[in-house]
Amino acid sequence: MAQCWVEVDLEKVRANFRALQVLVGSQTSLIAVVKANAYGLGAPEVGRVLAGEGARYLAVTRVEEGLQLREAAIQAPILLMSPAPTEDLEAAIAHDLTLCLSTPEEVQLSADEARRQGRKARCGLKINTGMNRFGVRPEQSVERAQQIVAQPELSLETCWTHFADAGEARPFLTQVQFGRFNALIGPLQRATQLEARDFHCANSSALLRFASMRLSCVRTGTLLFGQFPNGAATEEGRRQGLQLADPFAVRARVLSLQRVEKDESVGYGGEWKAPVESVLATLGIGFADGLSLSPEARDEGSFALARKNSARAARDVMLGLKGLAGAANVPAGRRAWWSDAQGREHQAPIVGRIAMQCCHVDVTHLPDVRVGDALRLFQRRTSTGSHMERRYLNR
Ligand SMILES: Cc1ncc(COP(=O)(O)O)c(C=O)c1O
Repeated sequence: MAQCWVEVDLEKVRANFRALQVLVGSQTSLIAVVKANAYGLGAPEVGRVLAGEGARYLAVTRVEEGLQLREAAIQAPILLMSPAPTEDLEAAIAHDLTLCLSTPEEVQLSADEARRQGRKARCGLKINTGMNRFGVRPEQSVERAQQIVAQPELSLETCWTHFADAGEARPFLTQVQFGRFNALIGPLQRATQLEARDFHCANSSALLRFASMRLSCVRTGTLLFGQFPNGAATEEGRRQGLQLADPFAVRARVLSLQRVEKDESVGYGGEWKAPVESVLATLGIGFADGLSLSPEARDEGSFALARKNSARAARDVMLGLKGLAGAANVPAGRRAWWSDAQGREHQAPIVGRIAMQCCHVDVTHLPDVRVGDALRLFQRRTSTGSHMERRYLNR
């Protein structure tokens, strides 16, 4: 029986895709960004769902990520958002990935490899409008596009750029970048067979904050997976009535329950000392699974936290009325949630130093917690161990 795992509710991923499609309208297509194992949710399963929902492309950064989708028998178009290393070109073309091209060398190598394979390689032109990671500079874009379309082994399907600061509180580059990109659409269309729908620039932040930048295609990951990328996007999303469902839950079992005396410590370094006689649940999850090792590890325990917050919260915790509902100063990453027989969730703080594969939760105020119970934890999705089993609901 697993000690910790990740639950992914695919129906919620579907619901987010549909909500976004309604938001952007039927004239705008969605590219589903499923890089980094679909932000931790599991690229093959999630990619299959999003392709089934009609994503225009599944987008990844690495050739191996594209190959993983193909191995999962996903036939949808796959857009590479980074240039393929030369040694990966053969596989990328053989598996029909849409290449990310910007330099004359990349164009030539891709054409040579496609010719060698007797195939036509799908290509995207990445334009560098200001991010300066990679991409052709705007003034050379038309020439590079012409170079691609002149090669009979290459098929240019899309042109795109990526914003450097669409998620910042005060973006100063995004409008400039959009201006540069937008100005190229006409000339690039005249130089190629591309249609307006083949140009895209907006990520999650931009599509929420700057509707005109949606053009007729957007690339989104964060929103699909149930999160708003930042405060400004959250505000905009709410204003536009976008409701997202969170499909991701990390769970870990209680391996043991320990009663400790007042002033006894727990775990490495004895960093946390019980402020009163306490009950600790040892959970089978730790930093090797992606549970944050942040220095906030010195929580003071349920009673101390509640006392700090207010006398009423302390009383509620003592009486087991509200768990830690009043302990607003415990960061989410330092809490665990236990579900009672009625399915109501109660919070409990993680205390002491997080170890490699276990951690401790103060459950003094939750007398019904038992060995074997699964608690939910808050973890950064992309840091959640890829070795952890993903359990899919609503396939
Ligand atoms: C090129 C590119 N486009 C789109 C995205 C999607 O971004 P978001 O998850 O904010 O929608 C990413 C992710 O970082 C990206 O690298």
